[in-house]
Amino acid sequence: MTAAAVRPPSPLIDEVRDGLSRAQKELSPTLFYDRRGSELFEEITQVAEYYLTRTERALLATRMPPVIEQLAPRTLVELGAGSAAKTRLLLDAMRAGGEAAAYVPVDVSAEFLRESAVKLGSELPGLRVVPVVADISAGLDLPRAMPRPVLFAFLGSTIGNFDEPAAIALLRRVRDAMCPGDHFLLGVDLQKDSRVIEAAYNDSSGVTAAFNANVLRVLNRELGADFDVRDFFHRAWYNREAHRVEMHLVARRALDVHIPHIGRVPFRAGESIRTEISCKYDRASVQRMFDDAELVLDAWIASEDPAYALAMASRGPRR
Ligand code: AVJ
Repeated sequence: MTAAAVRPPSPLIDEVRDGLSRAQKELSPTLFYDRRGSELFEEITQVAEYYLTRTERALLATRMPPVIEQLAPRTLVELGAGSAAKTRLLLDAMRAGGEAAAYVPVDVSAEFLRESAVKLGSELPGLRVVPVVADISAGLDLPRAMPRPVLFAFLGSTIGNFDEPAAIALLRRVRDAMCPGDHFLLGVDLQKDSRVIEAAYNDSSGVTAAFNANVLRVLNRELGADFDVRDFFHRAWYNREAHRVEMHLVARRALDVHIPHIGRVPFRAGESIRTEISCKYDRASVQRMFDDAELVLDAWIASEDPAYALAMASRGPRR
């Protein structure tokens, strides 16, 4: 018996069992981000085709400082913080506008989170860093007392991983965590020529394919599954009707996978696991989500080519 087989059932097992028993098999994109997955994602942000990160960083660097200096937030709560690469830009703007008292990074990847928290803490003495390890799709459990006003930030178009109902539910949780005077900064990738989008998720160096396959290694390690990564290939395309990228792992042949506590998982040749959706927006679709979450869109700062936007919002009155 393997170590995994004697471990008691966990929420992860339930989630994976549920996802792999659907007609369209699916896995949560949060499963990508073990240490290796987080590193592979960092590599993705450097490939030429993946325009999202550098485009957002340019917007943050050129357009945000005056806005943030004026709002003068004292705490930055960053959702899905990852490596905190863009965080410095926000914290520096906060310091220029007054004081950066506290930084609360919230992420699923504990290891990456702690490292970047330690790094920022030593670079910016006087800044209180309070990392929160959490899956933001499950809930927002934040420290009770934070120096206000707070700037909540959810960058990188990570909101695109959520379908619309889940995205609205997440925005609503952010809204509920906000006090009057707090603000929310959301980074969103915008709809554009599908060739540009598809290239970003099918980079020629194959980093995205490796990132995608990593989820199978995570299941092998965490659950004792026996996926052979060579049996699956990466496929990503833009669904224009749904305005989203879908990323899949496709079985090259009919095969069975075995997962302790779950059992046999059969695949037909060509059958896929959907591992991620990445929604693409426009101003109207962001406005609709904000309306539904009772957030007020205060500013829309967008780049032209490639199109990407930062949306700044405040808490709307409860209806
Ligand atoms: C981190 C969720 C924004 O959807 O573009 C990159 C993840 N997936 N390449 C995205 C990702 C494939 C990324 N997000």
